[in-house]
Amino acid sequence: MADARPFHWEYVPEPVTREIFRVEGGQPLHGTVPISGAKNAALKMLAAATLTGERCRFTNVPEIEDVRVMTETLRDLGVVVDHPEPNVYEIASGDVEWLFVPLEAAAKMRASFMLLGPLLARFGRVIISNPGGDRIGRRPVDLHVQAMRTLGAQIDYRNGYYFATAPGRLRGTEIRFPVVSVMGTENAMLAATLADGHTIIRPAAREPEIDDLIVFLQKMGAGVERTYPDTIEIEGRKRLRGAEHRVMPDRIETGTFIVAAAVTGGRLTLEGAAGEHLGGFLDVMRDAGVGVECGSDRIEVDSTAVGPGQFTPCAVETAPYPGLATDLQPPTCVLLSQAAGRSTVHEAIFEDRLEWLGELRRMGAEIELLDDHHAAITGPARLRGTEVEIGDLRAGASLILAALAAHGATTIHGAHHVHRGYEDIERKFLDVGARIERVDEAEPADRP
Ligand code: UD1
Repeated sequence: MADARPFHWEYVPEPVTREIFRVEGGQPLHGTVPISGAKNAALKMLAAATLTGERCRFTNVPEIEDVRVMTETLRDLGVVVDHPEPNVYEIASGDVEWLFVPLEAAAKMRASFMLLGPLLARFGRVIISNPGGDRIGRRPVDLHVQAMRTLGAQIDYRNGYYFATAPGRLRGTEIRFPVVSVMGTENAMLAATLADGHTIIRPAAREPEIDDLIVFLQKMGAGVERTYPDTIEIEGRKRLRGAEHRVMPDRIETGTFIVAAAVTGGRLTLEGAAGEHLGGFLDVMRDAGVGVECGSDRIEVDSTAVGPGQFTPCAVETAPYPGLATDLQPPTCVLLSQAAGRSTVHEAIFEDRLEWLGELRRMGAEIELLDDHHAAITGPARLRGTEVEIGDLRAGASLILAALAAHGATTIHGAHHVHRGYEDIERKFLDVGARIERVDEAEPADRP
């Protein structure tokens, strides 16, 4: 059956209690920010733990909503998930009772689709909902489904669900992706670890989170290796064992705090951050004149010499790693609103990911939306506090950055989007001198 677009494509459930951030801007941030574990690595590792019946232990897992959704989804399958202390999760998938990933999980988080590969490879069948995820343009999963078919799976699509079966073991093969896909690469790689024979994936995505996942899989006994920058090869094993792993630092959170220091004219030490994972983002920051020094396990950002209003305009374009990450496009745009002159932005990965610029414009930024993929930003803008609405995770964090740089108070609706991916964000900002609070929307807010 054709992989039709399902009726629930853009369904993102609203939380029972909506929260808002209230931010009083104009305060330079100073101090130290601990960088959390990477969301986009942790979620895949939690899914990969279902490749074995033995216990897996993860440390440095970020305490975020997406991790909660993934662990709840695992529990609903019958997987034992222990959470002995903050940031530590133990997974034991000896008795998986239900090979079914419902719409409820898929609609909340696209990464729930990462369970397709491991469950199919280990149990030979799964019924999994088509994900909705972030409202950032069309987010198909056709590449994942095609990769599983290439490995020998049979997959039908009915009423919003993929019904996948693998008669016998999956078969190792060559998987050629027509475009580079992060989760497509990861799903194929997880499935291939238990397939019969050798698999080659190319072009394989090059994101550092995939290499962290490879290290974890190797600890599980998987025969997986990146043999060229764009090639991953897997020698399938009959079974994998339990393993322990510390999740790598979150490069998107790191980039967000680099911009926070820059646009407030402050100085931050980002503890535990890895500069080597920032790729093209770091080049943009340096071209713009942001003072960034990378150490072995920390990054220093100093915006006290060249600060807001003085940055150099840039022409930026998002790209797969090592290019400028699309997840760091929104923070980059906030920075460019503080450059002296006209910058251009090309969002090359997703449609609709520039839509949030409408909210930044409401705060006083001078922005031309040229089409779905291109915008021009002319600075320096004197941002001012107002009332804005968050549409997705990364745009949400960036509206906080704009509010911190703005004059006056900003009320930011839709805070739940930010909790999907940022651990304790308001605490981290408060600790470095920001004036920010999170309150229930029901409470009377001092609207600016
Ligand atoms: C991952 C990240 C996300 C990041 C994105 C790009 C996670 C949980 N999410 O998402 O934060 O923004 O990489 O760096 O790791 N595509 C298809 N068919 C598919 C899959 C993708 O056409 O089956 C297209 C997408 O629409 C997009 C492009 O491929 O245009 C790249 O998307 P992809 O790399 O797959 O993003 P995700 O893995 O979903």
